[in-house]
Amino acid sequence: MNRDGIELRKPLEEEPLDLRGFERPRALIREIEEDLTPLLDLVQRPVVSARQFSREQLLQLARLAARFETQPQLSTRPLTGKIMITAFYEPSTRTRLSFESAWHRLGGDIMSITDPASTGLAKGESLQDIGEMLSGYGHLVVLRDSNEQSVYEMLETLRVPIINGGNGLDEHPTQALADIYALLKWRPAMSRETPPGSERVRLGIIGVPGRMRTIRSLLLLLAHFSTALDEIVLITDEQEPFADGQMDELSDKGLRFRISDDLNAELPSLDVVYTNSILWTGEGFEELGQKFRLDAESPLKPSAIVLHPLARGKELSRQLDSTPHNWYFAQARGAVFIRMALLSTMLRLFA
Ligand code: CP
Repeated sequence: MNRDGIELRKPLEEEPLDLRGFERPRALIREIEEDLTPLLDLVQRPVVSARQFSREQLLQLARLAARFETQPQLSTRPLTGKIMITAFYEPSTRTRLSFESAWHRLGGDIMSITDPASTGLAKGESLQDIGEMLSGYGHLVVLRDSNEQSVYEMLETLRVPIINGGNGLDEHPTQALADIYALLKWRPAMSRETPPGSERVRLGIIGVPGRMRTIRSLLLLLAHFSTALDEIVLITDEQEPFADGQMDELSDKGLRFRISDDLNAELPSLDVVYTNSILWTGEGFEELGQKFRLDAESPLKPSAIVLHPLARGKELSRQLDSTPHNWYFAQARGAVFIRMALLSTMLRLFA
C-alpha cells in the first residue's frame, strides 16, 4: 500500500517501462541456435564455481531461460515428487526465494533451512554428516554459507547435486548466470563470436573484484564474452582491488581492464554500469557506501543500463528506479528463469 493506505502499484505489464520486456527474451531465442548437447555435462553435477561453465553452456542456459520467461506453459511441472533443500546459513532475499520460485514453477517441493541454529550445526554436527543426511531427504541442495569451505565440506559426503548459493567472499555463480542473462537480453548480439563494432560494450564495474563474490563470479563468465567487450573499466579507490592471481587469470582468458577512481569522468562513455554493495572482509562484510554513488545527477549515457545484484545500500539511489537505466529489477526477476534453466538441466528435464 502507498501513503494513502489503499492503492497498490500497477501490475508489472502496465508499467511504462514494461520491465518484464518479453520482446528481449524473444530476440535472444532468435539469436542463439538451439543445441542442448553442451548442457549434458551439467546433468547431476555440482555447481560450485563460475569456472565450471563453458561459453556454449551459458548461451544454451540463457536460451532455455528465455523460453521459460516467454512461454510459462513450457513447464509441465516435471519436478513433481522431487524435493529441493535450500540451506541458507546466511541471510538472503533473492537467491533463496528465486530458487524456490523456480523449483515451484517446475512442480517440485521444497524444504528450507533459514536458521543454522535450528539444525545440528548448533550442537557441533559436521557439514559432512549433514550432507549424508540431506542425500536421503532431497534431490538437490542449494547452500549459502559465509564460510568459503562449507560447500566443499558438504560435497565430501553429499550424493545429490549441490549449488553454491554464495560462499563467503569466494563466489556466487548463479548470480553471475543471472547477470549474464540480463546482459544477453539487453544486447543479444553479445552472444556472437565477433559482434560488430556498434554492438560492442563498454562495461564499468564499481567495486572490488577481490572482495565481492558477485563480481568474482561475473568476471569469470564475462571472460567467455571478451570479444563483445571493448574494455572493462574498474572503478575503485583500492590500491589492490584484485585477489592474488585473479587479474592474471582473467587477463589470460582475454579480459582487458582499466582502473579508475573517478566515477563521474567514466560514466558518460559506459554502456553498462555494474555496481554492488557488499565487500567481504573475511570475518564479515562492509558496505561500499556513498563514495561511488549512482543517482539522478550521475552523468550516465542516456542509453546506459545499471545492473546491481541487490540488496542495495547507499551506492544506488532509488531516484534511478523509474528511469530506463534501471535494469536491476529486471535482472533480479530474470534470475527465476535462469535458475529454472539450470535446475531443469541438472535434473535433465529438457530432453
Ligand atoms: N543477489 C543476492 O545474492 O541477493 P540475496 O543476498 O538477497 O540472496
